[in-house]
Amino acid sequence: MACSISHDMRHSLSAIYANAEFLERPDIGASVRADLLLEIQEAVVEMTERIDTLLQFASGRRKNPLVHERVSLVVEKAIAAVKFHPDGRKMSITVGKLSQAEAYIDARSLESAIYNLLLNACQAAARSTHVPEVKVDLTEGDERIYVTILDNGPGIPVTVQRTLFDPYVTSGKSNGTGLGLTLARQIAEEHGGSVCLEESNREGTVFTLSLAKSRFLDEVSE
Ligand SMILES: Nc1ncnc2c1ncn2[C@@H]1O[C@H](COP(=O)(O)OP(=O)(O)OP(=O)(O)O)[C@@H](O)[C@H]1O
Ligand SMILES: [Mg+2]
Repeated sequence: MACSISHDMRHSLSAIYANAEFLERPDIGASVRADLLLEIQEAVVEMTERIDTLLQFASGRRKNPLVHERVSLVVEKAIAAVKFHPDGRKMSITVGKLSQAEAYIDARSLESAIYNLLLNACQAAARSTHVPEVKVDLTEGDERIYVTILDNGPGIPVTVQRTLFDPYVTSGKSNGTGLGLTLARQIAEEHGGSVCLEESNREGTVFTLSLAKSRFLDEVSE
């Protein structure tokens, strides 16, 4: 939990840092300035909420309860959030299929899992030999909902292919902690699903995050 929160706080801090840098520029208008300030405030609120989660955890309380919500809203929020990150700011992130399925979710954790996958995809696509592209699909089967994230980056480095989901496994990034995929999978598992690497080659990579459509049994048994 402490790792998860520190990891997400680093992302919020990157957004604050980038916006603060923008604010220094003399050529920005009042409305852009107001937007940048708003984004800083939102990032601070988000960090405060995460610290609250940590305190909750430390005092022995359970994870957030799962709430019945439309998953597409979470996907849209994760895309908007990754756009604040310097590596996502200029990236073309397109949404293909966007199922309106609902499920019992912890929206904040799920958003953070999808955010981590999207950020990895943006960072990989930035190294593409073509125009960088990230695509997201939200689809549903009989029992599961799938968030599929595609990028046209150079693929998973061979050195980390087998250990990708282990903590602290990172490659090719100056400040990677190697926790993004570990946490994303853990969060998906808490929703009765998982995160899987579907495909990866020199032309691109596809990850799928799945979650159970019906109320996850662990929660019901409480
Ligand atoms: N879409 C992708 N394309 C290519 N390589 C990827 C992709 N996603 C993950 N990887 C590789 O897997 C490694 C582990 O990813 P993970 O998200 O767990 O950690 P990280 O991105 O290095 O650090 P962080 O903790 O900041 O997320 C990455 O360092 C990268 O080498
Ligand atoms: Mg990552």
